[in-house]
Amino acid sequence: MKRIAVLTSGGDGPGLNPCIRAVTRMAIHLGAEVLGVERGFTGLINGNVQPLERRSVGGIMGRGGTFLGTDRCREFYTVKGQRKALRTLNQLDVDGLVVIGGNGSLTGALALHRLGFPVVGVPATIDNDVNGTDIAIGVDTALNTILDAIDRIKDTASSHQRAFLIETMGRNSGYLALISGLAGGAEMVLIPEVETPMEEVAEAVGYAYERGKSHCIIIVAEGWKPGTRALVDYLKSREDELGFEVRLTVLGHIQRGGAPSAFDRLLATRLGAAAARELLSGARGVMVGWVNSQVTLTPLEEAVAFQKQVDLALWELAEIMER
Ligand code: F6P
Repeated sequence: MKRIAVLTSGGDGPGLNPCIRAVTRMAIHLGAEVLGVERGFTGLINGNVQPLERRSVGGIMGRGGTFLGTDRCREFYTVKGQRKALRTLNQLDVDGLVVIGGNGSLTGALALHRLGFPVVGVPATIDNDVNGTDIAIGVDTALNTILDAIDRIKDTASSHQRAFLIETMGRNSGYLALISGLAGGAEMVLIPEVETPMEEVAEAVGYAYERGKSHCIIIVAEGWKPGTRALVDYLKSREDELGFEVRLTVLGHIQRGGAPSAFDRLLATRLGAAAARELLSGARGVMVGWVNSQVTLTPLEEAVAFQKQVDLALWELAEIMER
């Protein structure tokens, strides 16, 4: 194998640049050429690539986002789009591809593998919902960003004696909300995986007030139903009896940006280097992951078969800590 390509796809997150750097430098070290694909599968379909040298990936360790760009490419969901991408890869004489991204991107990687193209995946999503890895690239930094926000909001919440709903990302996964709630000392955590009626949330707010707390912090995952907006309206309609005034902060894309933490830089370097090494040694249709502090390989079929679930033991621990 003489030439490989690398792309980042789906929602970005901190650590993508160190990962591209690691793929590039390991591949060059092993004697291969590297092409960087711009804007994920969109760039693959349209043939937008740039040659990557050791120097072209210098100075990017501390930069958030992805210098190659990324996309959620609808066209690649179709067989037609996938075949166009395969054609580009063949026209460019590429022998193998590293795909860095979350569940959707790794499903795209699997599609190319099924068309017979050599692919290795790397899990990168702040949602941490990919099977076959204890932690994905970007999660640690996003958690630290959320914790910083919780600490700041607690300051103002206490000064004003308020209850705050803080919405984290996680369309389908409560991981960020659960872990940040535990580590941030929240009074309550709401995640899509566990049904919690709004009345129960109101009770928790009222109870925190009665006990003389100066604030009540509730972390809500984006995917929790019936949703943060419905909850804030409901709590506001009961403010008089609950005691606390209620406010909402939606953290949004702040969680996806920023300089990667030390952990994410190291994880991205290990997984990126392992992906290049595995691809060049003949691995096919696998994802490199980090399990029990070791680099592991999982077939892409398994990695994307279902969404990794949050650890409900941690949910129970959070419930005990909240009281
Ligand atoms: O999948 C990662 C993620 O950040 C989710 O937590 C969030 O729901 C989604 O991406 C937002 O995607 P977009 O940036 O396309 O709006």
